[in-house]
Amino acid sequence: MFTKFNIANFELENRSVRSATDTATCDISTGIPEQKFYNFYESLARGHVGLIIQEHTFVSLRGHAGHKQLGIHTDQMIQYHQKANDLMRAANDKIRICCQLAHAGPNGGAANKLQINEATAADFQEVVQQFKEAAVRAKKAGYDCVQIHSGHSYLLSQMISDFYNKRIDEYRASDFKLLRDVLEAVRTVDIPVGVKLQCDDFIEGHTMNAASACKIISALKFDFVEVTGGGYGAPPAKYSTIRAGKDQYYYRHVIQALKAQNLLDKQPVIVTGGFENVEDAQKAFADGVPLVGYSRKFLRNDQFLIDGDPKKCIRCNQCVNAIFKGQYAHCPISEREKQK
Ligand SMILES: Cc1cc2nc3c(=O)[nH]c(=O)nc-3n(C[C@H](O)[C@H](O)[C@H](O)COP(=O)(O)O)c2cc1C
Repeated sequence: MFTKFNIANFELENRSVRSATDTATCDISTGIPEQKFYNFYESLARGHVGLIIQEHTFVSLRGHAGHKQLGIHTDQMIQYHQKANDLMRAANDKIRICCQLAHAGPNGGAANKLQINEATAADFQEVVQQFKEAAVRAKKAGYDCVQIHSGHSYLLSQMISDFYNKRIDEYRASDFKLLRDVLEAVRTVDIPVGVKLQCDDFIEGHTMNAASACKIISALKFDFVEVTGGGYGAPPAKYSTIRAGKDQYYYRHVIQALKAQNLLDKQPVIVTGGFENVEDAQKAFADGVPLVGYSRKFLRNDQFLIDGDPKKCIRCNQCVNAIFKGQYAHCPISEREKQK
């Protein structure tokens, strides 16, 4: 847990990862961070997590998810990312920082959102170019790496899912061409590149499951893969991405499938979903997973790796509900405790 680990050309102080978590602290139309954003990340860096994967960051306005999301869609945005990275590195000189590049596709808030079954090849080529340009900006802003968001029924995850993607051309789900093209384009930028990969839609009768995730992972070479799945708000998916209640280690079946096909050693794997603390994470380490990610736990207590972990996250999901109410992501239980 507290041993070092290498991803591509950089070293992590330890094996805990802050999984991407939308803070909803940016201007709703421009994606420019508010002061809360900087305060949030400076504090997070102080907590000595190995890698901070920031939050889904739109690569174009057409791919905007529709709330107070961070943007990296123009060169003007570089300065804001750089400022946040400088603050994090001043707080902790060992911190490693990843920019999560995202396009919401049909699941976004733009008036002209990209509909995957009607989109043209030119639309997709534009998306590929937008990811590449965003990666160039991320490099200029001083990130250690980028993560392509291919989960949670946003654009790239819908494209690899036969539930959403009904195309029969070269962009059909089983060929994962758009994800491959995005990866190849981002690869031309000299920055390590990982993926947050939808590994199970949990939709009955459809093939976006552990077996198809293994196929993608064996075909594409990422610098790291974060395992994820589920759907927002669940139905028709059996499980949502952010599960309330007691479920732990959601993606053990995916890890077992990767292991069975000798894919767990092919590139570093991060597993996120339902881990409450470092003791819980031991189950994943025992399975051979090198890195464990946490999202809600860091909203509950961003210092839990160094303060003895006195605060339990009950996974009530009030943090994510806050975003849907137009607020910033926060844990109301923690806020009440601070006011006492
Ligand atoms: C408030 C909130 C915002 C989230 N935002 C993102 C995001 O921007 N990008 C992403 O890939 N996942 C996002 N997630 C999902 C988490 O990264 C993680 O996959 C999920 O919450 C399960 O992990 P956990 O049990 O440790 O919370 C978010 C989760 C929460 C609770």
